[in-house]
Amino acid sequence: MLKNKNIIVGVCGGIAAYKICELVHKLKYAGAEVSVIMTKNACEFVTPLTFQTLSGKPVHTDMWKLPAKDAWQVEHVELAKKCDLLVIAPATANIIGKLAAGIADDMLTTVVLAVQAGVPGFICPAMNTNMWSNKIVQDNVRKLKKYGFKFIGPASGKLACGDTGAGRLETIENIYLQLKRRI
Ligand SMILES: Cc1cc2nc3c(=O)[nH]c(=O)nc-3n(C[C@H](O)[C@H](O)[C@H](O)COP(=O)(O)O)c2cc1C
Repeated sequence: MLKNKNIIVGVCGGIAAYKICELVHKLKYAGAEVSVIMTKNACEFVTPLTFQTLSGKPVHTDMWKLPAKDAWQVEHVELAKKCDLLVIAPATANIIGKLAAGIADDMLTTVVLAVQAGVPGFICPAMNTNMWSNKIVQDNVRKLKKYGFKFIGPASGKLACGDTGAGRLETIENIYLQLKRRI
């Protein structure tokens, strides 16, 4: 049941970022409380306003923003504490590498590390085929699997860059169904 569940959707700077608008819409429509965190690079692809409108909540892009009036809380800790399920989509080669190395240098990576052990974490990679098959990326994927992250995709097919192969974002329908099954 997605209803009233707190879901964090982490959006990274990949061309598939626009597809996540549909995922956020579906999760919200199913009754979930969706908090979107965008990397700085994700904001080059889709505006925070789009996710804010679809989720009905403020979008988090910056760790250093002052809390709203009358609110005193450490935002990344508060977000992480109430998280029932975390999904990163599209997950770039960059975020996969940063998480595998334990780096927390922006809002998304910091929240991911602050989420309590046992909370399901899903990673939906999307990138060029050569990036995906790069041994460094594959090594990082293995590491994250070992730490308990579940990978959804990538699918194979024609990529935005014109190449064909593994690296397409899994379909939004499949991502949605897998998340629904897990919660
Ligand atoms: C047009 C364009 C499309 C990109 N698409 C992808 C992508 O699909 N996957 C990926 O891993 N990186 C992609 N990149 C590179 C990332 O944006 C870059 O590695 C960035 O540092 C990722 O930052 P983030 O992980 O903090 O969002 C793309 C870059 C550009 C300019």
